[in-house]
Amino acid sequence: MTPGVSIDADAWMHRAVGLSATALPHPNPRVGALVFDRAGGEVGSGVHRVAGDDHAEIVALASAGDAARGGTLVVSLEPCDHQGLTPPCTEAIITAGIDRVIVGALDPDARVSGQGVARLREAGIDVTGPTATAAVEANDPAYFHHRRTGRPLVTLKWAMTLDGQVAGADGTSKWITGDEARRDAHRLRAASDVVVVGAGTVRADDPRLDVRLEDHVGPQPRPVIVAGEDPLPGDAALWSRDPLVYSAKPVDTPSGEVVVLSGPAGVDLDAMIKDLESRGTLGILVEGGPGLAGALWSNGLVDRVVAYAGAKVGGGSGLAPLDGVFPTVADATVVSITSVELLGDTVKIMGDC
Ligand SMILES: NC(=O)c1ccc[n+]([C@@H]2O[C@H](COP(=O)([O-])OP(=O)(O)OC[C@H]3O[C@@H](n4cnc5c(N)ncnc54)[C@H](OP(=O)(O)O)[C@@H]3O)[C@@H](O)[C@H]2O)c1
Repeated sequence: MTPGVSIDADAWMHRAVGLSATALPHPNPRVGALVFDRAGGEVGSGVHRVAGDDHAEIVALASAGDAARGGTLVVSLEPCDHQGLTPPCTEAIITAGIDRVIVGALDPDARVSGQGVARLREAGIDVTGPTATAAVEANDPAYFHHRRTGRPLVTLKWAMTLDGQVAGADGTSKWITGDEARRDAHRLRAASDVVVVGAGTVRADDPRLDVRLEDHVGPQPRPVIVAGEDPLPGDAALWSRDPLVYSAKPVDTPSGEVVVLSGPAGVDLDAMIKDLESRGTLGILVEGGPGLAGALWSNGLVDRVVAYAGAKVGGGSGLAPLDGVFPTVADATVVSITSVELLGDTVKIMGDC
């Protein structure tokens, strides 16, 4: 960097994190990178789009070419220092002649953590960071969860009336929450690899489970159906979306892929999560209904809850978010509330289980 040139490292990092959110390359992390020349002018940018393709740093350095020499690389996640499906990014950064690297977060992956930064420093590069750990993790919670626990992040989401009902006694649930909350729920889908529902929800709501946001640029999450004893509707909208169907017994479906995983009460849900992980799935969003939600909960398979409480009161009992018995308050699970937001007329509450 030319002496006297001022930089706005926070704004650059904000942009790098924003770039990373335009792709979902799981099982790899979301990463965005920018390259600035000696004078502080932007000369390159990159996103890691798909596992197996070039990492964000490599794309950004390639787009900068010789202008990268003596410049600054801003990258949302620590560069890797190991040979994976692609060569180590640290070597490419050193070879490109970068003088300074600003790192958003250290990589929680044991093969990388701290080692990427150490290798760059060893090569004489000025490394700053991590400068934005919370923002980077919030942008890719499933990756951080998976690298720390070895399991995908299972998020259970429901939309309820203020008095805790997810549907009326007649099964209707459209719409309990407001427009802004429903757009937010689409953003949750956009950051998930799969969206899961049980057969009851397919029958009652005929959902598409896709991301319907004008500015959505990443991939669509794959829909997952947990099939049961009764047949699935042959004309469900999900058949046009190549769903993955888990079933306790062989079933014929109009499209998609069927995986038979039999458990004591329908589909073996733990085996389902393991099967999803083996396919590179890190972020599993469960959109209900109460039968599936209750079964996941009672088996201890939920990591995070997202409850939207709309500005309506049912005034009696319809359907509770989770099937099952709640015998006494002493048995309730304590959840660590991580955020509460007002989205239009709907309250969004998130918590870690
Ligand atoms: N407001 C909300 O957030 C929201 C979200 C989703 C749904 N809903 C509402 O919830 C209602 C549907 O509830 P639901 O409980 O029937 O739907 P569900 O949870 O989507 O489906 C439950 C069904 O999944 C099948 N299944 C297979 N293996 C299972 C296992 N291990 N554990 C649990 N289920 C398994 C069974 O199908 P079989 O019946 O074929 O045996 C079971 O009856 C609708 O009224 C819908 O509008 C509300």
